Amino acid sequence: MSATRTVAVGGDTPYSIDIGPGLLGDGARLASHARGRHVLLLSDSHVAPLYAGAVEAALRAARPDLHIALHVIPAGEAHKTLASFGGVIDALAALGATRDATVYALGGGVVGDLAGFAAACWMRGVDCVQLPTTLLSMVDSSVGGKTAVDIPQGKNLVGAFHPPRAVFADTAALRTLPPRELRAGLAEVIKYGAIRDPLFFQWLEAEREALLAGDDRALAEAIARSCEHKAGIVERDPLEKGERALLNLGHTFGHAIEAEQGYAGSDRDALNHGEAVAVGMVLAARLSVRLGMAAATDTERLRSLLVACGLPTAVPAGLEPAALLARMRLDKKNLAGRLRLVLWRGLGRAEVVPDVDEARVLEILGEG
Ligand code: GLY
Repeated sequence: MSATRTVAVGGDTPYSIDIGPGLLGDGARLASHARGRHVLLLSDSHVAPLYAGAVEAALRAARPDLHIALHVIPAGEAHKTLASFGGVIDALAALGATRDATVYALGGGVVGDLAGFAAACWMRGVDCVQLPTTLLSMVDSSVGGKTAVDIPQGKNLVGAFHPPRAVFADTAALRTLPPRELRAGLAEVIKYGAIRDPLFFQWLEAEREALLAGDDRALAEAIARSCEHKAGIVERDPLEKGERALLNLGHTFGHAIEAEQGYAGSDRDALNHGEAVAVGMVLAARLSVRLGMAAATDTERLRSLLVACGLPTAVPAGLEPAALLARMRLDKKNLAGRLRLVLWRGLGRAEVVPDVDEARVLEILGEG
């Protein structure tokens, strides 16, 4: 276990992010965050058969007094719904979970968001420990306490801020991750370079083949550096009153694409979250050029790295610009009915731009 790295998240509710191989089997470490005796282990139909048995056994071996229930949801963003949320609440009730219960989220972003939201609501808040098994959830969604479910009108529109008690990113789990999911996670890794760290971006350009090949060293480094960025930002701005909004580069466009496609990202023809964010980052960069904020050369550099990582960079065929814009109007960053977008002045210099001209956005969406 010497390969474990730890990133600390400070602020009012401090916690640590442990990163390394084998953490899912380290029952003593995992169980040290269960304050009471009730544990709900939430997972999905892809991840549970791979890891849930081992996690449950490790927890039981470390803490034989624990009452553990496993609740498995069908895999995929289409199941991050109020109905699934109700199922998790029913599972907590069936367990007889008291206020000192802990929800362990074993899986990707969908499981993490759903588990976190249920933990935020059960008895007005119980602990949640995040056990992310995808690259995307290791570098983004498991950290920072944003929890939510989607509704047909838009993504993540019902939720709460509820920081985890701890995060354990077992890098060995990435060995079973489908290549498409690994690439999707790289989009969020690239995002940190794009918004605030040109040197990290340069490192990603140099290491992209190692990352795509699943090289343990390169992936652990990418995860740790991404988590350091995210930890710093959420520590300073936990409730997204300012700087944290920068983490949404590409997300307003991306969420609109996901919603228009009915959150069908596990299908071959629809984009998953990371892929939609990749497209969204390029659209944001192109809009920045159109608004005279940035040079086109940086857009091309971003696009090239995303393409080299096997990610899409254009709006999928068949999506109507006006329909996407209508979705973007429901984004949580908007204020007083005005479009507020994260754009950039160039690589590493993202900023929030209030009151973006919708006509320019429509142009960019129409150009694909
Ligand atoms: N995923 C963006 C954030 O956590 O703020």
